[in-house]
Amino acid sequence: MDFFVFPRWVNRLRPALAAAVVLAPVYAVAVVYYGCSPKTTDIGYQPTQPVAYSHAMHAGDLGMDCRYCHNTVEIAPHAAVPPTQTCMNCHATLRAQSDKNIPVRESYATGMPIQWMRVHDIPNYEYFNHSAHVTRGIGCVSCHGRIDKMEVVRQEKLLTMGWCLDCHRNPEQNLRPLDAITEMDWVPPEGDQLALGRRLKEEYGIRSLTDCWVCHR
Ligand code: HEC
Ligand code: HEC
Ligand code: HEC
Ligand code: HEC
Ligand code: HEC
Repeated sequence: MDFFVFPRWVNRLRPALAAAVVLAPVYAVAVVYYGCSPKTTDIGYQPTQPVAYSHAMHAGDLGMDCRYCHNTVEIAPHAAVPPTQTCMNCHATLRAQSDKNIPVRESYATGMPIQWMRVHDIPNYEYFNHSAHVTRGIGCVSCHGRIDKMEVVRQEKLLTMGWCLDCHRNPEQNLRPLDAITEMDWVPPEGDQLALGRRLKEEYGIRSLTDCWVCHR
């Protein structure tokens, strides 16, 4: 059989067309199954912030708990970025003349919030919920990396559907005791994450949530 309804040159394209026809569903399945959409692979994304605020100093050297500032992370879908008042709890008196904190003092005086640049961002049609993770044994470090060592926050993980599903399929690889959620340098007892993970999965009744509606609602 020949393609006589098409011009002759189409014949030369047939291998390419065949490949496209065969590969299209493979591509679609790959996108759905692994979530390998190219857009969101911005590992290393590190916007410049309006204030030279350092997590390495505050959360690292000074040892402040993440929840002092991100105080909704256990009770709400979003982790609140702190208002200027939180900074002024200390900086009203501490380093009160520092040039680096001029934007903080201006924000406080005018009531205009500091325009922090967003780092992590998944599409709005996805449902993500912090409290559902941090109250179920997933620590900040599993998804954000060593924030306590970052002068300027950068994205460490892929944040694609494949990344979400990797953990949802095998949550025991990341489960930890609830009192270690914000501990950046926590390590499992005797280095055995799987043994602990399996036990915690039982204990907390963690499910393997992979149904589409869990995240697409
Ligand atoms: C003193 C307050 C403070 C503490 C303590 C603190 N943070 Fe932050 N965090 C901020 C501020 C302000 C921003 C926004 C500016 C920036 O990105 O640096 C931020 C941004 C972030 C972001 C990026 C948000 C985005 O836009 O995607 C993450 C992730 C984060 N913090 C995690 C943590 C973790 C984990 C800890 C504990 C290890 C922690 N923070 C401790 C104040 C704090
Ligand atoms: C619990 C107290 C505390 C809070 C709350 C706090 N800081 Fe700090 N901050 C410190 C300390 C302590 C230092 C180190 C001061 C020093 O080096 O002597 C510091 C240093 C800084 C510096 C460097 C100042 C310089 O001149 O080198 C900046 C900028 C800064 N903080 C911004 C912020 C911002 C923005 C927030 C709110 C998101 C914040 N801090 C919240 C305690 C705090
Ligand atoms: C299961 C993975 C995961 C865990 C665990 C996690 N985060 Fe996030 N975080 C994300 C994702 C994904 C986003 C982007 C959310 C979006 O775009 O709506 C984000 C965004 C943020 C933001 C920006 C504000 C927001 O909610 O969008 C802050 C601040 C933050 N995380 C802090 C933390 C802190 C602090 C912890 C630990 C107490 C933590 N996160 C634990 C995945 C996680
Ligand atoms: C490091 C592991 C891990 C990663 C990464 C992760 N999750 Fe989860 N997720 C969990 C665990 C554990 C639960 C709790 C399961 C349970 O309650 O049985 C959960 C629960 C959820 C829930 C259920 C919330 C509810 O209402 O019960 C949603 C929605 C969700 N995750 C979305 C996401 C999305 C979207 C991503 C990627 C952006 C993601 N998760 C990445 C481990 C993870
Ligand atoms: C654990 C959470 C989670 C589950 C479960 C999940 N998805 Fe997704 N999905 C996501 C996230 C997050 C994105 C956005 C990823 C990105 O921007 O690359 C996404 C994106 C998509 C996209 C768009 C891909 C693109 O190229 O932007 C499709 C289509 C999709 N999902 C289909 C599905 C189907 C079908 C299922 C059920 C078999 C499913 N998802 C289950 C989290 C999930």
